[in-house]
Amino acid sequence: MSLSLIKNYVLTKELATKIDLILAAHENDGSQLVGILLDIQELIPNHYIPEEVAYYLAEKLDVKITNIYDCITFYSSLSTTPRAKYPIQICNSIVCKVNQNDTIFTTLKDLLGINLNEITYDGRFTLESVACFGACDMAPAVRINGKVYGYLTSRAKIENLLSELI
Ligand code: FES
Repeated sequence: MSLSLIKNYVLTKELATKIDLILAAHENDGSQLVGILLDIQELIPNHYIPEEVAYYLAEKLDVKITNIYDCITFYSSLSTTPRAKYPIQICNSIVCKVNQNDTIFTTLKDLLGINLNEITYDGRFTLESVACFGACDMAPAVRINGKVYGYLTSRAKIENLLSELI
Protein backbone atom coordinates (compact mmCIF):
# COMPACT_ATOMS: atom_id res chain seq x y z
CA MET A 1 0.00 0.00 0.00
CA SER A 2 1.33 3.42 -0.86
CA LEU A 3 1.81 5.81 2.04
CA SER A 4 0.33 8.54 -0.17
CA LEU A 5 -3.03 6.76 0.02
CA ILE A 6 -3.32 7.80 3.65
CA LYS A 7 -5.42 10.96 3.84
CA ASN A 8 -3.50 14.18 4.37
CA TYR A 9 -3.91 15.61 7.82
CA VAL A 10 -5.53 18.99 8.35
CA LEU A 11 -4.47 21.36 11.09
CA THR A 12 -7.69 21.82 13.04
CA LYS A 13 -8.36 24.49 15.65
CA GLU A 14 -8.36 21.75 18.28
CA LEU A 15 -4.95 20.49 17.21
CA ALA A 16 -3.56 24.05 17.08
CA THR A 17 -4.70 24.52 20.69
CA LYS A 18 -2.94 21.31 21.75
CA ILE A 19 0.21 22.35 19.90
CA ASP A 20 0.13 25.72 21.65
CA LEU A 21 0.01 23.90 25.01
CA ILE A 22 3.04 21.81 24.03
CA LEU A 23 4.88 24.95 22.96
CA ALA A 24 4.05 26.60 26.27
CA ALA A 25 5.35 23.53 28.14
CA HIS A 26 8.60 24.00 26.22
CA GLU A 27 8.57 27.75 26.98
CA ASN A 28 8.17 28.50 23.24
CA ASP A 29 11.89 27.80 23.04
CA GLY A 30 13.09 26.93 19.53
CA SER A 31 16.20 25.27 20.99
CA GLN A 32 13.86 22.54 22.31
CA LEU A 33 12.65 21.77 18.80
CA VAL A 34 13.32 18.01 18.92
CA GLY A 35 11.27 17.52 22.08
CA ILE A 36 8.51 19.75 20.72
CA LEU A 37 8.32 17.77 17.47
CA LEU A 38 8.29 14.42 19.31
CA ASP A 39 5.44 15.58 21.57
CA ILE A 40 3.44 16.91 18.63
CA GLN A 41 4.02 13.79 16.54
CA GLU A 42 2.37 11.75 19.30
CA LEU A 43 -0.83 13.77 18.77
CA ILE A 44 -1.06 13.16 15.05
CA PRO A 45 -2.72 10.03 13.69
CA ASN A 46 -0.11 8.03 11.75
CA HIS A 47 2.70 9.59 13.84
CA TYR A 48 4.24 12.17 11.52
CA ILE A 49 4.64 15.93 11.14
CA PRO A 50 2.31 17.15 8.37
CA GLU A 51 3.49 20.08 6.25
CA GLU A 52 0.78 22.35 7.61
CA VAL A 53 1.95 21.66 11.16
CA ALA A 54 5.59 22.28 10.23
CA TYR A 55 4.71 25.72 8.84
CA TYR A 56 2.58 26.50 11.90
CA LEU A 57 5.54 25.67 14.16
CA ALA A 58 7.98 27.72 12.11
CA GLU A 59 5.72 30.75 12.50
CA LYS A 60 5.02 30.20 16.20
CA LEU A 61 8.67 29.61 17.12
CA ASP A 62 9.98 32.18 14.67
CA VAL A 63 12.40 29.69 13.12
CA LYS A 64 13.06 28.95 9.46
CA ILE A 65 10.97 26.18 7.92
CA THR A 66 14.25 24.60 6.73
CA ASN A 67 15.32 24.22 10.38
CA ILE A 68 12.14 22.30 11.11
CA TYR A 69 12.69 19.93 8.17
CA ASP A 70 16.43 19.54 8.93
CA CYS A 71 15.44 18.36 12.39
CA ILE A 72 12.72 15.97 11.18
CA THR A 73 14.96 14.36 8.58
CA PHE A 74 17.92 14.04 10.99
CA TYR A 75 16.08 12.10 13.72
CA SER A 76 14.80 8.64 12.83
CA SER A 77 12.02 8.98 15.42
CA LEU A 78 10.52 11.84 13.41
CA SER A 79 8.82 11.56 10.04
CA THR A 80 7.47 13.86 7.32
CA THR A 81 5.24 11.10 5.91
CA PRO A 82 2.37 9.16 7.48
CA ARG A 83 3.35 6.01 9.29
CA ALA A 84 1.42 2.93 10.20
CA LYS A 85 -0.22 2.54 13.59
CA TYR A 86 2.80 0.44 14.56
CA PRO A 87 6.01 1.62 12.85
CA ILE A 88 8.47 -1.18 13.68
CA GLN A 89 11.98 0.27 13.87
CA ILE A 90 14.55 -2.50 13.62
CA CYS A 91 17.98 -1.61 14.97
CA ASN A 92 20.64 -2.24 12.35
CA SER A 93 23.70 -1.14 14.34
CA ILE A 94 26.62 -3.32 15.26
CA VAL A 95 25.50 -4.95 18.54
CA CYS A 96 22.14 -5.96 17.10
CA LYS A 97 23.84 -7.14 13.91
CA VAL A 98 26.20 -9.48 15.74
CA ASN A 99 23.20 -10.79 17.68
CA GLN A 100 21.54 -11.90 14.44
CA ASN A 101 19.11 -9.07 13.80
CA ASP A 102 18.73 -10.57 10.31
CA THR A 103 16.25 -12.99 11.93
CA ILE A 104 14.07 -9.99 12.78
CA PHE A 105 14.27 -8.57 9.26
CA THR A 106 13.49 -11.82 7.49
CA THR A 107 10.79 -12.96 9.93
CA LEU A 108 8.90 -9.66 9.97
CA LYS A 109 9.07 -9.33 6.18
CA ASP A 110 7.70 -12.84 5.90
CA LEU A 111 4.95 -12.51 8.55
CA LEU A 112 3.77 -9.06 7.41
CA GLY A 113 4.29 -9.58 3.67
CA ILE A 114 6.09 -6.24 3.22
CA ASN A 115 9.62 -4.96 2.62
CA LEU A 116 11.38 -2.12 4.42
CA ASN A 117 9.57 1.24 4.20
CA GLU A 118 6.35 -0.36 3.00
CA ILE A 119 3.06 -0.42 4.87
CA THR A 120 0.70 -3.36 5.37
CA TYR A 121 -2.59 -3.26 3.46
CA ASP A 122 -4.51 -2.44 6.65
CA GLY A 123 -2.24 0.47 7.58
CA ARG A 124 -1.14 -1.17 10.84
CA PHE A 125 2.56 -1.89 10.31
CA THR A 126 5.62 -0.44 8.60
CA LEU A 127 9.18 -1.72 8.78
CA GLU A 128 12.08 0.69 9.19
CA SER A 129 15.81 0.06 9.55
CA VAL A 130 17.28 2.49 12.10
CA ALA A 131 20.53 3.17 13.95
CA CYS A 132 21.17 2.19 17.58
CA PHE A 133 18.55 3.53 20.02
CA GLY A 134 20.46 2.57 23.15
CA ALA A 135 18.97 -0.84 23.92
CA CYS A 136 22.16 -2.76 23.10
CA ASP A 137 21.90 -4.80 26.32
CA MET A 138 18.64 -6.25 24.90
CA ALA A 139 19.98 -6.89 21.39
CA PRO A 140 18.64 -7.67 18.93
CA ALA A 141 15.88 -5.15 19.48
CA VAL A 142 13.10 -3.19 17.83
CA ARG A 143 11.34 0.00 18.89
CA ILE A 144 7.64 0.61 18.29
CA ASN A 145 6.09 3.99 19.14
CA GLY A 146 8.89 4.69 21.61
CA LYS A 147 8.70 1.31 23.39
CA VAL A 148 11.64 -1.10 23.09
CA TYR A 149 11.22 -4.86 22.63
CA GLY A 150 14.43 -6.85 23.01
CA TYR A 151 15.94 -10.31 22.89
CA LEU A 152 14.11 -11.06 19.62
CA THR A 153 16.29 -14.02 18.78
CA SER A 154 13.73 -16.41 17.30
CA ARG A 155 10.70 -16.49 15.03
CA ALA A 156 8.52 -17.55 17.99
CA LYS A 157 9.49 -14.44 20.00
CA ILE A 158 8.76 -12.21 17.03
CA GLU A 159 5.38 -13.90 16.48
CA ASN A 160 4.57 -13.30 20.17
CA LEU A 161 5.42 -9.62 19.78
CA LEU A 162 3.10 -9.25 16.79
CA SER A 163 0.29 -11.08 18.56
CA GLU A 164 0.56 -8.55 21.42
CA LEU A 165 -0.04 -5.76 18.93
CA ILE A 166 -2.80 -7.29 16.83
S1 FES B 1 23.08 -1.72 18.59
FE1 FES B 1 20.94 -2.17 18.53
S2 FES B 1 20.09 -1.04 20.17
FE2 FES B 1 22.21 -0.54 20.20
